[in-house]
Amino acid sequence: MTTNNSLLHSHWSSRFAFILAATGSAVGLGNIWKFPYITGENGGGAFVLVYLVCVLLIGIPIMIAETMLGRRSQRNPVETMQMLTKEANADENWQYLGWMGMIAGVLILSYYSVIAGWASAYVVKAFTGSFFNADANAIQSLFDNFTASPLQLMFWHSVFMGATMWIVSRGVSHGLEKSVRFLMPSLFVLLILLVGYAMTTNSYQRGLHFMFNVDFSTLTRNSVLTAMGHAFFTLSLGMGSIMVYGAYLPKDISISKTTYLVAAADTIVALLAGIAIFPLVFEHNLHPASGPGLIFQTLPIAFGNMTGGWLMGILFFVLLVFAALSSSISLIEPLVAWLVENKNFTREKACIWSGLGTWFLGLGTVFSFNIWKDVHFFERTIFQLLDYITANLMLPIGGFCIAVFAGWIMHRDHTQSELQMPCKPSYELWRILVRYVAPASIFLVFLHVIGVL
Ligand code: PHE
Repeated sequence: MTTNNSLLHSHWSSRFAFILAATGSAVGLGNIWKFPYITGENGGGAFVLVYLVCVLLIGIPIMIAETMLGRRSQRNPVETMQMLTKEANADENWQYLGWMGMIAGVLILSYYSVIAGWASAYVVKAFTGSFFNADANAIQSLFDNFTASPLQLMFWHSVFMGATMWIVSRGVSHGLEKSVRFLMPSLFVLLILLVGYAMTTNSYQRGLHFMFNVDFSTLTRNSVLTAMGHAFFTLSLGMGSIMVYGAYLPKDISISKTTYLVAAADTIVALLAGIAIFPLVFEHNLHPASGPGLIFQTLPIAFGNMTGGWLMGILFFVLLVFAALSSSISLIEPLVAWLVENKNFTREKACIWSGLGTWFLGLGTVFSFNIWKDVHFFERTIFQLLDYITANLMLPIGGFCIAVFAGWIMHRDHTQSELQMPCKPSYELWRILVRYVAPASIFLVFLHVIGVL
């Protein structure tokens, strides 16, 4: 990343650097941990189909819009909305979009860090041979004993939050730009190897069938919302992460082409993770709807029983932690950028305060797996509630507002000159999607979930 003094902050060194950072943000626990378990909970194929349609019709156009907003203003999300509102002579209340994004980022990171902490702990478990020759029962109790311990979860949550804040305090990218460069391809190769292993099991076909056989009767009202929410979550949309990364994007780079690449990489990683995991679920008579522990209860069985499994296990969890880190830094970056640019904090101070606050909130998630397991609000544990409010409500609402802002409030000339799409039809298509299709679909899904449709 290079610093250009005439601008407010530093810039990515190249288009490739931006692609890496945006892919780093998008690919994370959402793809490898969350996608498989929510697919399992929501019955498989039909859910996957709804998710894919949402990525295509809602996610991609909004990703283009969100990147564009950031790049046009070159500022943090709160200021972006203030500046673009002025430019378009629009209502000042649009700036609350930036605020909501910062809050969503902190809430998501509070539980994201706990789960990333699990992955970190599993690096050590893999290393010390805890999976060796283990069967499904042994792996299950390993997981249950681990999550039953608030102290262990707290420890790993602290380690992960500490690492995130340390990286963020050094400025976006630097080391990370470099690490994502080898990290993403390695993760990809490892997933392919895991799919290879899944193919050797007797349940491979059954796993594929579960993921790709579309049976709409498995969908509940909430499944549709979860699939849509996940499209936002997995692409890091609706809360300013991609906007703030867009702000670091030089003016001469095509936003649409980079977006397609990032969205494609993100989707492929999620599908590969699912294809690797579901055969194992059926092979070992586990339940697809086992919840957030799913990958921790399945993959270690494979690592414990395959040749080279020891090394593969370590590598897999190390890569998962890195993938989570490159996402977690983008969750907190909007808040940190705002504290630095608007509140005169030094970067270090901004990191310490936002990190401590997020860590503290994360304790709610830590305890929701053990001592507060039975504490429910609206029939959900604290972790489930945070996940629901952020992924299913805040991100889609944020995305809806971004689409409306880019499609209806900003001047056509401005969006057109900012996007510079290679041909006119693709710009028109984007405009239709962002003006009509995306907002209307989000609205309809909300109506559906409250039972009106
Ligand atoms: N996209 C990330 C993942 O799939 C999570 C994330 C959500 C990151 C929102 C930034 C903003 O793991």
